[in-house]
Amino acid sequence: SVPKPLVAGNWKMNGLRDSLAQIEKVAASEVLAACNVDALICVPATLLHSAAVMTAGTPLRIGAQDCHHQEGGAYTGDISASMIADSLGSHVIVGHSERRMGYREDDASIRSKTVAAHKSGLTAIVCIGETEEERLGDQTLDVLRRQLAGSLPDDVTAENTVIAYEPVWAIGTGRTASIADIAEAHAFIRSELSHRYDDECSLMRLLYGGSVKPSNAAEILRVENVNGALVGGASLVASDFLAICSVY
Ligand code: G3H
Repeated sequence: SVPKPLVAGNWKMNGLRDSLAQIEKVAASEVLAACNVDALICVPATLLHSAAVMTAGTPLRIGAQDCHHQEGGAYTGDISASMIADSLGSHVIVGHSERRMGYREDDASIRSKTVAAHKSGLTAIVCIGETEEERLGDQTLDVLRRQLAGSLPDDVTAENTVIAYEPVWAIGTGRTASIADIAEAHAFIRSELSHRYDDECSLMRLLYGGSVKPSNAAEILRVENVNGALVGGASLVASDFLAICSVY
């Protein structure tokens, strides 16, 4: 059997309260109700609770974009996984390349965040991916192996963890990896997971991220071992997000 696909939006640092209208549109859409897909939008923390309340009882889930590894304490500006769960979020993205690079998050800290997410009952979306320099230097699979080994804790299951493969050079650039490169990376990730976690992980969702949009979604989402997408820019507009979901 294959995992049920997941289309996850990542609004990044975008969205004021009036953007909740997009969330409402997606949640109420008959297109979404007719798709065989799990749909999730990861909003800024300021919108988390409102979006989660607004979508209760609909097929759309709401998540956050990062969490601290501690449950509470003197960490000005951060939010914990338990705060996300308390705000009725169901998922949290950890280790996005924008955080790995902009905030120097390393694999060990991403692993602790993943543990914290699991402890609070959240599904962690753990992001990995090579930079352009690493790809040109033929290091892609080594980077993916190292990030998987370092970022994933031992308690990973197909329910509590989703992996997002996002080649850094394809994020927000309009460039996507080639279909062959996506297929190779995803097959490699699946095989690394199966070595470490046995059969448990044959049902783990592996998402592709990096300039996914309505015009390229169908081609990308039918690649073997691609079980959905992590969508940045195109998730901000309800109709684009729904068009991607409706591939399924
Ligand atoms: O988390 C989402 C990714 O960083 C992809 O962003 O679809 O705007 O390229 P993008």
